Amino acid sequence: MKTDRNAPIGVFDSGVGGLTVVREIMRNLPDERIVYFGDTARVPYGSKSKNTVIRYSRQIVHFLETQQVKAIVIACNTASALALDTIEKEIDLPIIGVVKPGAQMAVETTQNKRVGVIATESTIQSGLYQQLITEADPGAYEKYLHKKDGTLDLFTQACPLFVPLVEEGWTKDPITEEVARRYLAEILDKDIDTLIMGCTHYPLLRSLLRKVVGEKVTLVNPANDELGRQKYQFFASDGVERFNAFAHSVLPEQISDTKQVQIENY
Ligand code: DGL
Repeated sequence: MKTDRNAPIGVFDSGVGGLTVVREIMRNLPDERIVYFGDTARVPYGSKSKNTVIRYSRQIVHFLETQQVKAIVIACNTASALALDTIEKEIDLPIIGVVKPGAQMAVETTQNKRVGVIATESTIQSGLYQQLITEADPGAYEKYLHKKDGTLDLFTQACPLFVPLVEEGWTKDPITEEVARRYLAEILDKDIDTLIMGCTHYPLLRSLLRKVVGEKVTLVNPANDELGRQKYQFFASDGVERFNAFAHSVLPEQISDTKQVQIENY
C-alpha cells in the first residue's frame, strides 16, 4: 500500500469527547491534517455491547477510508477496548487506540505501584486496561515465574454519570464534584498515586478531578501520548450545531463547518 504523507489522519469517537484527543494531536503534530468523525447520533458507546461497538466502529472506519486518511486514531476508549483488535485485522491502514498508551504511561508514572482507572462500564468490563497494565508491569514476569504477586496493584471504577454531565457542560458544577467524590471514594482509599482518565470526556473534568483526588495523585490522560479550516475536517452523525459549539469550547480554533453524515450508509 502506497501512503500519501500529506493525507489526513482520521480520528473518531462516539461523540464530542474525542476532541480532547484532537487537541493533543493539534498540539503535538501541528502540521498534520485531521478528519474527525463524532458519532453524535449513537453516543454513548460506554453502555453498549461489544458487537454493537464493533459494528459502529467498522462503519466509521469505512467512512474515514472514503476520506483517504493515511492512519486512524480511535479516540474513544470504549471503542479502543472493544473493537480495535477486530478492526485492525480488517483494514490495511495503521490504526491506533488510546488504551495501550494510557496503560503504559500509568505504569511508567506510578511510584508506589498503586494505580486507579476510571472509565465507562464497557471499558472496565472489557478488562483491557487490567490486561495491558499487567503486561506492562515490570513485576509481571516475576509474578509468573515465582507465582508471587505482581508489583503493581490496580483499582478500577466505572463512572457512567460523567459522560452526560460533561455533555451537559457541568464540568465545574458542585453536583459533578459530589458525583466524583462518590465514585472515587473507594479507590482513593486504596492509596493510589496515579489515576488514568480512561474515557475521552474525563480530561474535560481535569480541574474538578484534581480537586477531588488532591495533589498527590497524578492524572494520566491517554490522549497525551498519541500522535486552518481545510486542514481540519469534522463530521458528525447528528446535532452538528451542538457539536460545533462544543468543539469551540474544547479546541484552540473555531469550528463551524461540521458536516452531517448518514453513517448507517457506510
Ligand atoms: N468516548 C467514550 C470513551 O472514551 C465515552 C462516551 C461514551 O460512552 O460513548 O469511552
